[in-house]
Amino acid sequence: MTIEQKTEERRNRTFNSRILGHVVSCNGAMATISATEFSGETSLAAELSVGRLISIKVGDNRIVALVYAIHSPTRTWTENAINVMHFEVELVGEIRDGGQQISFSAGISNYPTLGAIAHPIRLKDLNEVYAVNGTNPVTIGHLTQNADIAASISADALLDRHFAIVGTTGVGKSTAVSLLINRIVDACPDLRVLILDPHNEYAAAFKSRAHLIEADSLDLPFWMFRLEELSEVIFRGQPTIPDEVDLLRDLVAEAKRNFKGDTSSPSFSKQAEKSSITSDTPVPYRMADLLALIDERIGHLDGRQEKPHLRALKVRIASAINDPRFHFMFSSKTINDTFATVISDIFRIPGKGKPITSFQLSGIPSEVVNSVASVLCRIAFEIALWSDGAIRILVLCEEAHRYVPSDPKQGFLPTRQAVARIAKEGRKYGVSLGIVTQRPGELDPTILSQCSTVFAMRLANEHDQDIIRSALSNSSSSTVSFLSSIGNGEAIAFGEAVAVPMRMCFDRISEADLPKTASGHSIDASRSNKPGGSPDIRQIIQNMRHMREVFTPGVKAPLEPEDYLSQQEPQANPLHHHAGQANSVTAYASSAGLAADGARPPKASLGSVHSPDGRGSLFKDSLMNKKKPL
Ligand SMILES: Nc1ncnc2c1ncn2[C@@H]1O[C@H](COP(=O)(O)OP(=O)(O)OP(=O)(O)O)[C@@H](O)[C@H]1O
Ligand SMILES: [Mg+2]
Repeated sequence: MTIEQKTEERRNRTFNSRILGHVVSCNGAMATISATEFSGETSLAAELSVGRLISIKVGDNRIVALVYAIHSPTRTWTENAINVMHFEVELVGEIRDGGQQISFSAGISNYPTLGAIAHPIRLKDLNEVYAVNGTNPVTIGHLTQNADIAASISADALLDRHFAIVGTTGVGKSTAVSLLINRIVDACPDLRVLILDPHNEYAAAFKSRAHLIEADSLDLPFWMFRLEELSEVIFRGQPTIPDEVDLLRDLVAEAKRNFKGDTSSPSFSKQAEKSSITSDTPVPYRMADLLALIDERIGHLDGRQEKPHLRALKVRIASAINDPRFHFMFSSKTINDTFATVISDIFRIPGKGKPITSFQLSGIPSEVVNSVASVLCRIAFEIALWSDGAIRILVLCEEAHRYVPSDPKQGFLPTRQAVARIAKEGRKYGVSLGIVTQRPGELDPTILSQCSTVFAMRLANEHDQDIIRSALSNSSSSTVSFLSSIGNGEAIAFGEAVAVPMRMCFDRISEADLPKTASGHSIDASRSNKPGGSPDIRQIIQNMRHMREVFTPGVKAPLEPEDYLSQQEPQANPLHHHAGQANSVTAYASSAGLAADGARPPKASLGSVHSPDGRGSLFKDSLMNKKKPL
């Protein structure tokens, strides 16, 4: 007998002595294994538990199977006696043993026969099962079954076909996102990541790699909004009034055509090009011009029935301009074609060492978050589309059920369309979608179904589990039964980026690198700054009123009425000669007040605008107090 033969025999002997049990039934996808524990023995069967992989020998190959249930056929257990137990397993795939070379495939060519022997899985088989097939392998943790085996995914497969992270609150979704993104950005240096961060929590996790856009520093000019998005803002998320939207469509297009702009940016010089401008074309215009056009129409003798709509529209627009919470849209003192600057800042072109943009949405009014999300997702897709896929972008939507809810009556249609477009066509142009939600049941199912890799963390809700079950292929649906009981920081990963469903634990992240709320300041730290730990009620009220005690250096000052006046001086305004009224916000405000109250206010001022919701103008208070509204 040669040395090789002796080694092989020893290997077989050891292997056979590690018999778990025998197959007693098999229906194709599932099998039952009967195991016997003899008295006084600590058999291998006793070591096995739900969620582990085992192997079943069929000829030269080994079928890999996942244990999803164990029970005793007699429903009894006797100490110091022979006990029989049954394992229910799901057949996951097959290891082909070619001597030196082994390979794993997800299909099964030869099913186990009755009496086929089940063994604990070998380490090298386990490694082969979870080896990453795709390009750009990224390690994100380790297997739950064996901490020595790395849990790796293919970054390219993950990005190409989108991904979702689901799990109840507090299980570690955001932590998993920060870990995933940090590792993926290492593996794909050309990737840009845009995170819609509703709780401002990613600043701490990405540190110097992330470009933070807060409500203060956000500059998303109103003219970048499409008509529907602008309507969502000025109607404050309420149902729109079709007549007013129709007027807005005409007037915005006209204001855009009339805008002359600066000479440095690409402009529409030819008349034919200008006439192609619609209310949705991303070219600048002045609010002053729009309001002047409304005034002009109101001044016309004909068109009686549209006058109330024009007046109402004007009140809405003026009230949005005056609302400090919408400062990020209307803040620019002069209207220039800043499209290139805004886009290169948000989408990191060039990245300047910060490939991740964290869009901190918590400071933005909830009714506007929808349109901001819509603008960002839409522009992300368009950049990739018009660059012919040269720019690779990942758009990550935290709390995605807010933007793309399952109920079609809820949410905002353009946001839903923008996210759906990335989900459906993004792969062709290099735009990827990452979805994070605690309620998969409340998320639009078409979006979830486009996410080909899912990290399912603990999910207690039956309905949510069903959603994930339906997303899984039949052969791995029993995996979902673990979902209600897996630990924090643990997940079952399945789909394109992994070969077979993988129960894994994400790597631990140090306290300092965890995502944290409150713009990266730990709650403990901010508490300890206050004497006696008591919160500053003044500060809380100021925050609620969107006011700031001090000016933050580098942050734009609020728009003062004089700014609008100087900005919109007649010579700067191409509409001046036919506007018919002084085209300043002061004038808009006064006539808006007239429209709202039926009488012109004694002294026209910005503060006299009455918003449709009756909140009055925060802007005026903040100016009078010399406070900085956000
Ligand atoms: N991989 C990890 N390493 C270290 N700590 C973790 C890890 N995963 C989770 N945790 C702990 O769990 C806590 C909650 O995690 P996280 O904020 O990511 O949960 P979440 O699912 O995003 O919650 P929510 O739904 O409320 O946003 C973290 O603050 C951290 O203490
Ligand atoms: Mg979270």
